[in-house]
Amino acid sequence: MGSRVLQHCPWLCATGVWACVSLLLMGHGAQSAWQDNIKPKRFVQLGDNEVMVFYGNKTFNDHFRLILPDGSGGILIGGRNKIYNVSLLDFKEQNVIEWNPHKDAKKQCYMKGGSEEVCQNYIRILTKKGAGHYIICGTNAYNPECREFKLSETGKLEMEREFAGRGLCPFGPSHNSTSVFADGQLYVGTVADFAGLEPLIYREPLRTTRYDLATLNAPAFVSSFALGDFVYFFFRETAVEFLNCGKTLYSRVARVCRHDKGGPHKFKNKWTSYLKSRLNCSASGDFPFYFNEIQATTEPIEGRYGDHATTLLYGVFTTPENSIPGSAICAFTFQGQ
Ligand SMILES: *[C@@H]1O[C@H](CO)[C@@H](O)[C@H](O)[C@H]1NC(C)=O
Ligand SMILES: *[C@@H]1O[C@H](CO)[C@@H](O)[C@H](O)[C@H]1NC(C)=O
Ligand SMILES: *[C@@H]1O[C@H](CO)[C@@H](O)[C@H](O)[C@H]1NC(C)=O
Ligand SMILES: *[C@@H]1O[C@H](CO)[C@@H](O)[C@H](O)[C@H]1NC(C)=O
Repeated sequence: MGSRVLQHCPWLCATGVWACVSLLLMGHGAQSAWQDNIKPKRFVQLGDNEVMVFYGNKTFNDHFRLILPDGSGGILIGGRNKIYNVSLLDFKEQNVIEWNPHKDAKKQCYMKGGSEEVCQNYIRILTKKGAGHYIICGTNAYNPECREFKLSETGKLEMEREFAGRGLCPFGPSHNSTSVFADGQLYVGTVADFAGLEPLIYREPLRTTRYDLATLNAPAFVSSFALGDFVYFFFRETAVEFLNCGKTLYSRVARVCRHDKGGPHKFKNKWTSYLKSRLNCSASGDFPFYFNEIQATTEPIEGRYGDHATTLLYGVFTTPENSIPGSAICAFTFQGQ
């Protein structure tokens, strides 16, 4: 399968930005394909009372997607019509910001056939702009909206301004978006339309090409961050390499240059530096076993690989839902930064 994939995957050969370094959970013994009985080196069983749970709203589904550490022992969690500020120490709610959808937006949403469930304001973008400043966006009943907040001296977020969120925030609760602030500008990976069919990576005024499956193909974004001259986006998406043989998801990393100023004339709103590559997290062997679906990543970490000091990134990958259940942690290094 490895060679077939290679033939069908032009970016892989063209960019070569990424190299898979090691597969930690599988261990080095896993040379020859997938084995079901490999045990992790360390195993901890937690009892019920050793686990802390934050439920949010117990009556309605909050569609939790993102959390953001606030740097002072708390985390912000985006939910349904609410931004929860939860203490990391005991998982207790410290305060809550209510943010209901606008009446008009809600009415329009119902008129377009939206259900009570989706015509709410789900917080999907939560980004720290600078010390004590946050940009937060919600679906606002399929009419996305963003707000800038300032942390007051009493430890509560206060709204400073409100602006339209189209292109910055998905319209509905189910899309997985990501965002990061770099050089005073907001970078997002999200969808720009009502139906959720127009994915984009955006930083005003630059965006990825519309409706180009080779650029983005129904991506579920999992993370993003700025490093060196670039902003990186991690996501899983439908693999165009496989369009003829059923639907397969691949994990990808895309990057854009922070200094990108767009192209000439009609390309002035397009990235000129957009690059994408497959993330290969697999157990090697004659028939490599792939963990194709990325679920989460760390931030870049200064670490050592072998005897080199290097910047590493760890990602959690799983097998597809309807196959042998399996998960792995893969580490990647950055080349050509
Ligand atoms: C759950 O959400 C509903 C509707 O938004 C609200 O009326 C209720 O107070 C919420 N419950 C909690 C515990 O926050
Ligand atoms: C969260 O709540 C705590 C306690 O009230 C406060 O100290 C902290 O600044 C709050 N953080 C945010 C981002 O609202
Ligand atoms: C978003 O991510 C969640 C968790 O991984 C997944 O269950 C869901 O299907 C994703 N949504 C979309 C639209 O891909
Ligand atoms: C992924 O990595 C494995 C192990 O290094 C290798 O055997 C395989 O050919 C690679 N697959 C692709 C598509 O590059």
